[in-house]
Amino acid sequence: MRPPAARRRPTEALRAAAPAGPSALRVKSPDVLIAESGADREGHGLKRTMGLFQLVCFGIGAIVGTGIFVGLSDTVAQAGPAVIVSFVLAAVTCVFTAFSFAELGGAIPVSGSSYSYAYATLGERTAFLVGWCLLLEYGISVSAVAVGWGQYLNELLGSLTGWQLPAALSSPPGDGGIVNIPAVVVMLLAALLLVRGIRESARATAAMAVLKIAILILFCGIACTAFRAGNLTPFAPEGIAGITSGASLAFFSYIGFDAITTAGEEVKNPRRNIPLAIMICIGVVTVLYCLVAVGAIGALSAGQVAGRPAALSLIVNRVTESAFGGGVIAFGAVVAIASVVLAVMYGQTRILMSMSRDGLIPRVFERISPRTSTPVAGTWIVAVAFAVPAAVVPLDVVMNLTTIGTLSIMAVVNVSVMVLRRTRPDLPRRFRVPLFPLSPVLGIAFCGYLIYGTGPVTWLEFAGFLAVGALVYARYGRRHSRLGTTPRTPAGDAPETGQVSGGTAADARRG
Ligand code: ALA
Repeated sequence: MRPPAARRRPTEALRAAAPAGPSALRVKSPDVLIAESGADREGHGLKRTMGLFQLVCFGIGAIVGTGIFVGLSDTVAQAGPAVIVSFVLAAVTCVFTAFSFAELGGAIPVSGSSYSYAYATLGERTAFLVGWCLLLEYGISVSAVAVGWGQYLNELLGSLTGWQLPAALSSPPGDGGIVNIPAVVVMLLAALLLVRGIRESARATAAMAVLKIAILILFCGIACTAFRAGNLTPFAPEGIAGITSGASLAFFSYIGFDAITTAGEEVKNPRRNIPLAIMICIGVVTVLYCLVAVGAIGALSAGQVAGRPAALSLIVNRVTESAFGGGVIAFGAVVAIASVVLAVMYGQTRILMSMSRDGLIPRVFERISPRTSTPVAGTWIVAVAFAVPAAVVPLDVVMNLTTIGTLSIMAVVNVSVMVLRRTRPDLPRRFRVPLFPLSPVLGIAFCGYLIYGTGPVTWLEFAGFLAVGALVYARYGRRHSRLGTTPRTPAGDAPETGQVSGGTAADARRG
């Protein structure tokens, strides 16, 4: 069925005007990206429901979760009391890259995040590989986060009922179990919320964000009552090497701030609110994490914290000498981590939607339900696909892969901001990276440093993952790319591609 003229995709002409050349190196103009997303006009398909407060809550929702509630104990095992330095190093890495994200998010306010920025600056193949790595940052990360959720759920069950799920049903094979049922359940619940629409999901996320900040502040307050300065010595038992690998682990706790840029099409005044929200989120979580780390080590020695599951609950139980306080923290963690699952899964579906619109992955991911205005099919595919690693892969493996994938993407984002300054100095930028180009160069250097800290096994796993991605691009993405495709009909009507049941994002925009 040919769409009527008034319902033509607005960007076909722009797309047809994409520069010629080997498709792997062609870039997609920022004007095309913005026009396709509708970020430059009102009345586009995804509803603009999110203001600055909601966006900050969404960011906090995506950031604060398994990394601090669960990963802290592993970071302490590497770095000892110097975990604080590790957190600061991870934060510094994020700040430099956050500047780049903020500039790009303001200049190209579309849902594709780093994928779209790479497409606009570095070409299609790099964009595809960034999108491929986003499967680690979002998809595999959501699996890791869901596993952490299961740990605190068990802790909560223990303090409420004295009973916990058996290891066989709450841990993967490598960690002494068979299958992680809680991790699967939380992912399916998140998918259920997301397909009901961003309005409900954003409200729930805002409430959870406020709660998790309150819980972490409560933790700090309780931990401070038992603070012993002596616990901070020896400060760095494993030296620089421990601090470096600790920083790589701590980095997981910051992953997610860029999810803010994936909401570009649902944000009011995106050019102002996206950069502002990123900066606010990084600032708030850095202060929180440092306080929590100091409080934890000050209350209990590094040796007692290292490697313990549900460590924050354990610390509070020890300090208060009752299971009640730990139960409250466990409740907060269960809620907090669930919100990360929600926000990160949201980000993954929006990135896949952008890649699908570009033809680089199957079109099922761009289908928008006319009833809920959400990508229902894509959300369920993501939930089911990433529930599998959540069920059967140990937490440290999925966390390391998430970390190296995210750091690689961030390095690319820092390159993108430099390229866009050169190729499109005319684009309006609400926020500009300070100390340009020093800041993105330092961002790349810090990303490299933390990648080094993940260790050779993770480097090799990641190299294999990238090789598979390059193959998928060569065999599918490059052949199906819509960049530069001309309309099929002589009249220049939009091609019928993408007119699928439920409609595409573009259809939904036009109501
Ligand atoms: N930063 C997110 C978390 O810690 C991924 O759970």
